[in-house]
Amino acid sequence: MKRYHDIVGDGGSGILEQVAEQRTRITDGLAGVRHLVAVGSGKGGVGKSTLTLHLAGALRARGLRIAILDADFNGPSQARMAGVQGALFVPGSHKVSLPRTRNGIGVFSMGSLIPESEALEFESAAHGESHTWRATREFSLLSEILGSFEWGALDLLMFDLPPGAERTVQYADFLGPRTSFVLVTIPSEVARGVVARSAAALSKGPNRLLGYIENMSGYYCRDCNAIKPLFASPEPFDAVQRSPSSLRIPCLGTVPFDPELARHCDRGFPLAELPDTPVGRALDHVAQQLLDNLESTTEPSR
Ligand SMILES: Nc1ncnc2c1ncn2[C@@H]1O[C@H](COP(=O)(O)OP(=O)(O)OP(=O)(O)O)[C@@H](O)[C@H]1O
Ligand SMILES: [Mg+2]
Repeated sequence: MKRYHDIVGDGGSGILEQVAEQRTRITDGLAGVRHLVAVGSGKGGVGKSTLTLHLAGALRARGLRIAILDADFNGPSQARMAGVQGALFVPGSHKVSLPRTRNGIGVFSMGSLIPESEALEFESAAHGESHTWRATREFSLLSEILGSFEWGALDLLMFDLPPGAERTVQYADFLGPRTSFVLVTIPSEVARGVVARSAAALSKGPNRLLGYIENMSGYYCRDCNAIKPLFASPEPFDAVQRSPSSLRIPCLGTVPFDPELARHCDRGFPLAELPDTPVGRALDHVAQQLLDNLESTTEPSR
């Protein structure tokens, strides 16, 4: 029996070559993608998934080729929101084809594979240590997905990230400097504070931080056709800007809360079916800002 000290290099497992091979597979698979954008936030429930899908829809309406990778494996939302729950994964010419929404956005979401009544299981033999195991398994699953699906020629691949400041940084590290980040917040000091920390953490790495989107910025009242305050804002805007938790990154735009948008998300209807409303126009404006920012980026080295 070999002792630990007898093991030389990778112990003959070929793991280093396998990792390098997987990385090459991913790089090759994403070679036809012009822009990689991750939508994250330290805070949960602020609208990352909603904005990812509907910004993708707004850009798709302009003729761009878009795909979404729902990287929230444990709490996937895109399958339901994009209307691809129960979609079949079929072989493409070389790899697996992506299911598509009615408006032609390719979507990978764990929610297409696992019903909402079930949780994603990562078997672990080490009781009390599953946190280490899960993180490793999650990122190895992400590698598998990136390497196995046909991303093809895309203008934009959007990653819908799970919540959490720490995980946002882990994804940045894993996805590498080609991926730009957009953070989502809501107009509360609590959310801004958490998102400010995510921005600070990201600023230490090489990923480009395009800016933030303020979601649920007012409530769209259909009865009076006006945007009303949703969160109390006791401090004047300037004071908020100066507060320690202010976000010192560009604001790509604000999106009001619209119950009709929430209903569209629950039912998996695309934005194009949402009549011309302030929320539709706001999403369109943010989509244009995002595009302008991306197009002004000089291609980082791969
Ligand atoms: N602008 C909006 N108008 C109406 N409903 C919204 C809006 N933004 C988000 N929602 C709704 O709020 C809920 C939470 O949004 P969402 O799931 O996109 O948040 P999230 O940040 O992705 O959450 P998580 O952290 O769990 O991933 C959803 O039901 C969504 O439909
Ligand atoms: Mg989400």
